[in-house]
Amino acid sequence: ERGEFRHYMLKEIFEQPHALAETLEGRIHNDQILEAAFGANAHHLLDEIYAVQIIACGTSYHAGLVARYWIESLAKLPCSVEVASEFRYRQPLPNPNALVVCISQSGETADTLAALHEAKRLGFGPSLAICNVPESALARAADMVLMTRAGPEIGVASTKAFTTQLLCLLMLTVVLGRRNGTISELEKVIVRAMRSLPDQLQKLLELNQEIKQIAEEFADKHHTLFLGRGVHYPIAMEGALKLKEISYIHAEAYPAGELKHGPLALVDADMPVVAVAPNDTLQEKLKSNLEEVHARGGQLFIFANHRAIMQGSDFVKIIELGEINEYISPIAYTIPLQLLAYHVALIRGTDVDKPRNLAKSVTVE
Ligand code: F6R
Repeated sequence: ERGEFRHYMLKEIFEQPHALAETLEGRIHNDQILEAAFGANAHHLLDEIYAVQIIACGTSYHAGLVARYWIESLAKLPCSVEVASEFRYRQPLPNPNALVVCISQSGETADTLAALHEAKRLGFGPSLAICNVPESALARAADMVLMTRAGPEIGVASTKAFTTQLLCLLMLTVVLGRRNGTISELEKVIVRAMRSLPDQLQKLLELNQEIKQIAEEFADKHHTLFLGRGVHYPIAMEGALKLKEISYIHAEAYPAGELKHGPLALVDADMPVVAVAPNDTLQEKLKSNLEEVHARGGQLFIFANHRAIMQGSDFVKIIELGEINEYISPIAYTIPLQLLAYHVALIRGTDVDKPRNLAKSVTVE
């Protein structure tokens, strides 16, 4: 079943162009996202939604964090995101006009499921499950379902489920923004960017060889810092999670603006720093954060649209992704970080598809 691939994880990384095309299939008409994609009842259930509460665990939680940036900046609705195990015991204040969005690959994660029931009990608004398994408990419990259609994910480390979740969340943002009157002409632009995803990701997968070489430089390290800003901060978090769970290298993500408030103390030649540095409004600020790392002898690995972002050297490696539309950029930047984690784990000889102590589906708290 793995075919030409050595691991399911690698196969699933390479399946992403196809998986994303499947996620979009039949859900767009005339450059518009169809509300019917969210189920027959979506039409009235989405009425009177004035806020969004996202609940998830692990990688799915990171997808939710990205969505918060989209939902607040594009759909102009207040959005909170919380890990399910905290939400369910916190006694949160219910908002009957808040759409509860539960994100889960398996649809069987005990905490996420319990959090959904708790949200209902407390009196939150209607619920939407963004899920990869149609018959799962979560898909059955929610009022609306948007299937990610990534196909079965076997590798314990989530890859194609994450990028398809992001695409579903961008679709949700568009639908909410249209209802809220905040999106108008932008919808076309976003939908076209979505359609370009399979081809864009196919090109990014060609970075595989380059990343394989870079991975050598991480293999003997004990710690790695991941930096990002804005919507790419959660992408840095996801990059760190992938690296730690399959290579067992301690990896931590920070919003780059927080560097001076603590983590800069850790930076030295033994602490590689990975930066997610797209060409956006925050790039100049991020660059000055990276200069600080450089000045302290830290080794930088910068994922950027263009090589020109900084002067390359033995201490500054730049991985060029090329021009990418801003709305799909978080999805695109995920790909090279997945490949990095994979190749580092491969060199370290860990069990990539079944990392120690972890299970694919966490059905107990
Ligand atoms: C990380 C990973 C886990 C899951 C988490 C939630 O690669 O796989 O962090 O994302 O256990 O699982 P689901 O999405 O099935 O609820």
